[in-house]
Formats: sequence, C-alpha cells, structure tokens
Amino acid sequence: PEPGWTAEADLVVVGSGIAGLTVALRYAELEPAAKVLIVTKDVLSSGSTRWAQGGIAAVLDPRDTPEEHLNDTLVAGVGLSDERAVRALVTEGPGAVRRLIARGARFDRTPDGELQLTREGGHRRRRIVHAGGDATGAEVQRALIEAVRAGSIEVVEHALVLDLLKDARGRARGVTLHVMGEGDRDGVGAVLARAVVLATGGMGQVYAATTNPAVSTGDGVALALRAGAVVRDLEFVQFHPTVLWLGEGSTGQQPLISEAVRGEGAFLVDHEGNRFMAGVHELADLAPRDVVAKAIMRTMSATGRDHVYLDGRHFGREKWETRFPTIYAICREHGIDPATEPVPVAPAAHYASGGVRTDLRGRTSIDGLYACGEVACTGVHGANRLASNSLLEGLVFAERIAADVHATRPAPGDPVPSAAPAGLVDPRARTRIQGHMSRGASVLRSRESLRETARALLDARWTPVEVTPRTESWEATNLLTVATVLTGAAAARLETRGSHWREDHDARDDNEWLGHLDVTLTEEGL
Ligand code: SIN
Repeated sequence: PEPGWTAEADLVVVGSGIAGLTVALRYAELEPAAKVLIVTKDVLSSGSTRWAQGGIAAVLDPRDTPEEHLNDTLVAGVGLSDERAVRALVTEGPGAVRRLIARGARFDRTPDGELQLTREGGHRRRRIVHAGGDATGAEVQRALIEAVRAGSIEVVEHALVLDLLKDARGRARGVTLHVMGEGDRDGVGAVLARAVVLATGGMGQVYAATTNPAVSTGDGVALALRAGAVVRDLEFVQFHPTVLWLGEGSTGQQPLISEAVRGEGAFLVDHEGNRFMAGVHELADLAPRDVVAKAIMRTMSATGRDHVYLDGRHFGREKWETRFPTIYAICREHGIDPATEPVPVAPAAHYASGGVRTDLRGRTSIDGLYACGEVACTGVHGANRLASNSLLEGLVFAERIAADVHATRPAPGDPVPSAAPAGLVDPRARTRIQGHMSRGASVLRSRESLRETARALLDARWTPVEVTPRTESWEATNLLTVATVLTGAAAARLETRGSHWREDHDARDDNEWLGHLDVTLTEEGL
C-alpha cells in the first residue's frame, strides 16, 4: 500500500520491550540532538518483557566469574553458541544491569542492601537478579517506560510494521507502518530514518500453547525475510519445561511457572510422586531447559498423561506469597494451592533462540538494519538459550547497537519503492497454523510430522475471500512465513541438538551438524 503519511527520524526502533527501549534510551544519551522514534504494535508495555519472571543473569557475586557464566551458556547452547558473542554478554552484562538500575529499575535486595541472587536451570551459581519476587519483567518494563516518557524520544503506539524501505544501494532507509487510531498518523505511513532497529520480540504464537503474549507473531523475522536479510537457527525453539497445565487442549498464552521455583528447591514429580530428574542429569531439576523439557515429555509418554507436577509444598505459604507472589496468585486463580498441593505443569513454546542473524554490533546482513533481543540471532544462545540470558542479551546488545549507530552515522540515500507485498493471509488461518505447528513441529519432531506440517502450511495460505489489510491479517501472514521457514529448517536438521528434538535422528551429530542453517528469501522462494 502507498504511504498516506511520512515521518522522519535519525533512528527508528521497532518494538518496545527491554531491547527496543534500551537502544532508544542509550542512543538518545549518545546523541542528545538526534530524533529517536519508537514504533510499537500495541502499547509500550504489551510485549514479552513484562511477562518475564525469573530475572536477569549477570555475574554480580564476587565469588562468581564471567568465565563460569560463559561456560554455563556454552554448555546450554550445545556447541552452536558463538563464544565471542557470549564473552561480550557475560563481561558487559554486570555493567549493563547496573545501568538499568541507574535508569530506575528496582531489584530485590537482602537485608544488608545487596542484590538478592537466585538460580535457574543450567546455572551452576546464584547469579540471577529479580524484582518483586517473580515480577522482574514488569519492573524492568515500568522503569524503562518511565525513562522513555521522561525524555524526548517520540513514541507511536498501535503501529504495526509492514516492510523495510531501502535506498537504491540496498541500505535500510526506514519502514512502512500500518497505524490505527493515532490521529494524523492513522493508516499506512512511512518512517524514514538513517538506521532501523528491529526489536519486535519472538514468535511463540506460531504454536497453540505458548508463554508468549498474543503480539508475539514473528513480525520482525517475517519483515527481515521479505527484505532479503539472513535469518539463522529458526529450528531452535525453546519449550519452557514448566507452564501451568490448564487442562487438555488449552491454547493461547499460558501462565509460566518460573525456573526460579526450582532454583529455590521445588522439584518435579510424576503422578505417583516419583522424582524423575535425579539420574537424568547431574544438575537434576536444575538441568538446562531442553534436558528438563525432554525428561518431562518422556515421563508424560511413559505414564500416558499430559502433564507432570512441580512440588514446592515444603516452601510453606509465607514463602510462596512473598518470594513468588505472581505465581502464587495465578495458581490460586486456577484453584491450585501450591503450599498444600503439587502444581500441574507441562512444557510450552517459550523462546526463539534463532532469528535475524547479526554480528557482534547487532548489524544484520542489510546495511543500516539492526536486530536486538529475541528477534535477533546474535550467536549467544546456540541450540538452547540459558535461563535469564534473554533480558541480559537485550540490554547488552542494545548498548552495542546504539554505540554502532552513533559511531557510523549511516547516511542512506532516498528510499526506492518497495516490492509489492506478498498476498495477505486470512486471519482465520492463525488457529490452523498454530494447530499444525503444535502437532508436527513442536517439542518432538520427525520427518513425517514435519512433512505433514509443511503440507498443511501450504494449504493454510489459500483463502476463499479477499483479505483486508489489518493487524490480524498481517499477523497471520507473518505467522505463516515464520512457521514455514521454521518447519523447513527443522526438517533439514537431521540430528537432535538442544531444543531441536528429532524422533528419527535422536542423537547429536557433530560431524555433520555442528553448524548453522542460514535462510534468505529470494524472489524464487527460500
Ligand atoms: C523463568 O522464569 O523460568 C523464565 C526465565 C527465562 O525464560 O529466561
């Protein structure tokens, strides 16, 4: 569609979670005279950040070292993490957390005023800061929104990003947007900018059950694919082991039961009360996330049930109420009292470890286009993200991107008209896509299940009616795009590694598969 309005900025940031807001704030600090514009699909607070519970991992205990954090991250990534990216993460992480505190985030402290640190799966040390017990993301989001509102950064809400604008040399020159109900910026428009940062979050909504909010529809990855950027590691979707089990066939956003609950001593049991993580891994209930999710799936299959239990009765009511107030309240809302009964849990889609490929400065394969946070594949997570490294990655790489835009001062030319957008998908396809993905391309995959899924996704493209351009149809289009690439990558990787689990290739294969799957969309297809 032709833009009905145009705005200009030095930097446009798409998305408003920890990554997007931190890039904008840091860049505004480095270049106070610059015009920074944040565009976000819903309202500033509606992304995944505010749902984060456990916390942010960083070496803040004098007995801990960046080397140990690096090792834990590399072990979780099962050979596919980029050590240079992880080194940047763990060495710059503590400073980034301190700057977040300076921006106003208040984390839980001990009676002596020290930061309280907890553990989660895969961490051999207590190194996770948290806020409000288990409401870390909400506090981070609050603090960053207040900091943005206090400065001169401009915000456009209800602005769904459509496509990347480029100049004649293929450099990023802005984005087109569909804005709803925002005064003179209503309708399709364009923001022209010297650099574009994608910070659109994840794609959990490709599955029927996910911890992600409804807005996580892979918009940034789909845009990057349409623009011809390289996307990497999409097959590595992490399933969080412990999501509150709400009954058979429950769909949409599911309540998370943070790994920090296990970090504080709760443990998994089957229907007969047997602990099944002991003997599976030396860290037992605190093994990396993929190991725990697989053990739960195996237990469910052996017992013929669709959930297991998380037992934290020994915490007592007071600890549940004070240390895990969010989770306690959610359980009570669903008629479960975690102080007196084990909590029913099952795995659900949680995090895209892959995304738009970037270098250590957050640059994608398109000049002037950056990606930050869950939408990006910086190389930190490899085949499986370590718990609480995601908010940290958002912080650290946001600062790197702001510094790079500031240092390079990109000066692209005039925008050239973008290619005609692909046919829009009927919004009603969304639940079909989710159902197919959950059946054939979720925790456990096989050649047959992935083939079946790929075929069903092709059919989902068909629509009997002309589709009106609106948020829901763009979201369905983006979901179908990322689901198709994800399924193709999962079919191509003939091994089991990290969160990619193939029933028909159930071993890790370092001879053939110690590498990445990079995908680019060309006019001919993938
Ligand atoms: C959790 O609190 O278990 C989630 C933390 C994360 O995804 O890193």
